[in-house]
Amino acid sequence: MQRAEEGIVGLIGRTPLVKLQRIASGAPVYVKLEYLNPTGSHKDRIALYMIREAERRGLLKPGGLVVEASSGNTAISVAWLASQLGYRALIVVDEGTSPAKVALIKALGAKVVFAPKVPWDHPDHAINLARRLAAERGGVFLNQFENEANVRAHYETTAAEIYGELGSGISAFVMGIGTGGTIAGVAKFLKERGVPARIVGVVPKGSPIATGQPTLGEPIEGLATSAVSGIYSRYSGLIDEVVEVGYEEARETMLKLAREEGVLGGLSTGANVAVALKVAERLGKGAVVTLAPDSIFRYTHLL
Ligand SMILES: Cc1ncc(COP(=O)(O)O)c(C=O)c1O
Repeated sequence: MQRAEEGIVGLIGRTPLVKLQRIASGAPVYVKLEYLNPTGSHKDRIALYMIREAERRGLLKPGGLVVEASSGNTAISVAWLASQLGYRALIVVDEGTSPAKVALIKALGAKVVFAPKVPWDHPDHAINLARRLAAERGGVFLNQFENEANVRAHYETTAAEIYGELGSGISAFVMGIGTGGTIAGVAKFLKERGVPARIVGVVPKGSPIATGQPTLGEPIEGLATSAVSGIYSRYSGLIDEVVEVGYEEARETMLKLAREEGVLGGLSTGANVAVALKVAERLGKGAVVTLAPDSIFRYTHLL
C-alpha cells in the first residue's frame, strides 16, 4: 500500500526475479524482470539516481533543464521522469531512431534534437552535441556513459534486491554491457560482500569491447556496438569474462524465452539468457542470475 501512495515514481525497482522452468540445464537460471519498471526498462533506476544526484549537487532547480543523449530506453526514462518531477528535458537522438520512440519521447513533453551518425570524436556526435546544448542552454547533461550515479543506482538497488533474494548462493551474474552501469554496480556489490560469483559481460559479436579495436558490433540495441564507455573503462577489472553474442542467437533466444518460458524480454534479454544458459551448463550449481532489461514489445518489428 505504501508504494501505491508514492505515485508512479515510487514503483521504480523492486522487480521480480523468476527461475526458468524448462530451458535451463545444469545450474538454475534466474531472470530479473526489469521490463516491469514503470517505463519498461532498467533505465528508470538510473534516470532517478542521475536526476537526484544533480539536485543534490545544486545543479538542478525546479523547472530546470535535463539533457541526455540516448536513442533508447534512457531517453524514455529521462523524458518520463523529468515530466513527473517538474523538469524540462532535451533528448539528443541519433538520426534514424524509430519514429515510435521519438513520438513517445515528444509525447512525454521532451524536446528532441537529431544528431548525425558520425564517429564519437566528431563535434556533432550525439554525446558531444548534448554536452554543447546543455552548456549553451544552462542545462544539466546527465551522460549515462560516464555518470557514477548510474553505477550507484544498480549497486544500491538492483544488486541489493538480487542479493536479498539469493544471498551468497549466486554462482554467476551475466549482463549485457551498454554503459556498463548495471554490471559494474552488481559486480561491486557482490565482490564487496565476498560472494564468489563469476561476473560475465555480454557484448554483440564484433563489439570493440571484445576485439579491442575500433570495430562495429552486430546490432543488439542497448549493448556496446561502437564505443567503450568511461564506466566500462573504470570497472572492467571487476568483470571476469566477456562473451560475444550474434544478433541471430540473441533473436532466437528472445523467441525461445517467450514461447517456452513465457518471459517476454527484449533482444538484449535474448543475448543475456543465451550466455546465462551456457554458463549454467558449465558451472552446474549455484544460482546463475541475469536481467531482462526491456521487453519484446520494443522489438515487434523483429519478430
Ligand atoms: C535493452 C538494453 N539492454 C541492456 C543495456 C545495457 O545496460 P547498461 O547500460 O547498464 O550496461 C541497455 C542499456 O542501454 C539496454 O537499453
